[in-house]
Amino acid sequence: EAKSNSHVVTQDEIQHLLKPRTKFSHKGTYGHALLFCGGYGKIGAAVLAARACLRSGVGLLTVQTPAVGYDALQTAVPEAMLIPDSNRKHLSKLPESVEKFNAIGIGPGIGTERVTKTLLGQLLATTDAPLVIDADAINLIASSDKLKAHLPKGRVIFTPHPKEFERLVCQSKNEYERLEELREFCSVYECYLVLKGSHTAIATPQGDIYFNTTGNAGMASGGTGDVLTGILTALVAQGYTLKEACLLGVYLHGLAGDLAKEEVGEISMIASDVIQHLPQAFQHLR
Ligand code: APR
Ligand code: MG
Repeated sequence: EAKSNSHVVTQDEIQHLLKPRTKFSHKGTYGHALLFCGGYGKIGAAVLAARACLRSGVGLLTVQTPAVGYDALQTAVPEAMLIPDSNRKHLSKLPESVEKFNAIGIGPGIGTERVTKTLLGQLLATTDAPLVIDADAINLIASSDKLKAHLPKGRVIFTPHPKEFERLVCQSKNEYERLEELREFCSVYECYLVLKGSHTAIATPQGDIYFNTTGNAGMASGGTGDVLTGILTALVAQGYTLKEACLLGVYLHGLAGDLAKEEVGEISMIASDVIQHLPQAFQHLR
């Protein structure tokens, strides 16, 4: 049975989180996000995260990707501004004006090269923006006590799948122990952690755990996690609190997956189908 500080998220709670747009708003009202994503052979992860970020209502999006991905990304996501990294294959350089961004997402497709690890360390030490840390950015932090020591408190959302969770937090024997380790980690690092799976769990620094109720097995397909990173980064950039962004973003991601399932079923579903159904998911919550 769920402990007192475990909650199952309902559509009604989520409905109230969604902020409608005001008539006199402009693209600056909805924030400027930065995504560090893509690596040699994984530029698609950057395309997926960027498209999901834009479809989740961010005002402006800048993507930094290795030079090899520049043309593909510019063509696939014309709405995104690009900063081409000087390194051909892997992310290596912090952009000058990193402080102007309202939220920064890092991880999809970036790989674990040394140059990228250095960049991640510089990012953690330089920016005071809220951070969404996913995929290989999690793996880089998991393998470095130095990076862990530089983790800012109170403004990070981790989005590991179970394997990344084991590297970052711990191996655990059973679900109960895993959730206790999860609470402990979030309290020590004062962070939010989205533990992705068939029932995604969202843990807060205060030790609460929220269980998401949307999504389906069709989403067990490469790239759907990159989509969630884009969604979360967009919501944080628009001014949602980290907790609101996690609850709303995970719910919308799964709801988009459920709407996609109605159209393409579970077997054929691909990450792009989830992005394609984000507009419907947002409309569903109005
Ligand atoms: N039911 C509901 N949701 C699911 C299910 C399921 N059975 N299986 C997966 N999902 C959702 C997860 O909740 C998560 O949001 O799909 C998403 C998968 O995210 P990732 O595991 O991060 O997948 P992704 O990174 O996009 O790509 C797949 O790449 O990172 C590597 O090896 C990793 O398997 C992963 C692969
Ligand atoms: Mg992933």
